[in-house]
Amino acid sequence: MAARKRFIVANWKMNPTSLAEAKRLFSALKKSSSKLPLKDVLFVLCPPSAYLGIFKAEYEGKKIALGTQDIFYESSGAFTGEQSAELLKSVGARFAIVGHSERRALGETDDMVARKVAAALRAGLRPVVCIGERVRDERGDYLHFLEEELRASLKGLSPQNLKDIIVAYEPVWAIGKDAKEAMKPADVHETTLFVRKILAERFGREHSRGVPVLYGGSVSLSNAGALLARGGIDGLLIGRESLDVKNFSELLSLAGKRT
Ligand code: PGA
Repeated sequence: MAARKRFIVANWKMNPTSLAEAKRLFSALKKSSSKLPLKDVLFVLCPPSAYLGIFKAEYEGKKIALGTQDIFYESSGAFTGEQSAELLKSVGARFAIVGHSERRALGETDDMVARKVAAALRAGLRPVVCIGERVRDERGDYLHFLEEELRASLKGLSPQNLKDIIVAYEPVWAIGKDAKEAMKPADVHETTLFVRKILAERFGREHSRGVPVLYGGSVSLSNAGALLARGGIDGLLIGRESLDVKNFSELLSLAGKRT
């Protein structure tokens, strides 16, 4: 049986702050990833959307797919400052991170997330739907929160839609520079099993089985191997470490190896 594809999604967030620096970073990543045997790995780079068209035009290589960090849920019209899935697709995006906790913290609701997921699918982008609890409690209330957030974020989808969906489990407390460390692989495994169970209950086993479930939150070169080997996941969503070309390239190469 062929190995399941691994997704390594790099989220540059609002970095770097100049086009010159972004180009430097992108060409270094492209160069190092072109040397790697990434047969079963899909590397998805999500830079700030201002850089998408430039990357696509100047550098697009087979080993890097481009994605966006957000989309708007309407296709066109009088929505100052917003960017639709169609528009971002036309400048190179094939994937769209949707419902990232940093967007939810700015006021994005589950309902908006669900509309964005639907908009991405309509435009032919694969949404990477982020869910994650803000805190972990002893009693397991966070499981209830996760279930609600997952169901609400995928509201209105049919089982057939699932073939294009990717779920990223990102516990909010493990994200960013204030987080102490990533989640332990065994805990990631337990939680992603729970996510898969909810998907199966909601959409049926047959349709949900193929949905890639990723982990994100303080992933680095030092913990990626263990997370991939023992986290029960199909890949990683990576923030800070994706801005370090050397570490990130090693991490990609690690993801390309199966043990
Ligand atoms: P981090 O971010 O890897 O810097 O913790 C992950 C994310 O927010 O997607």
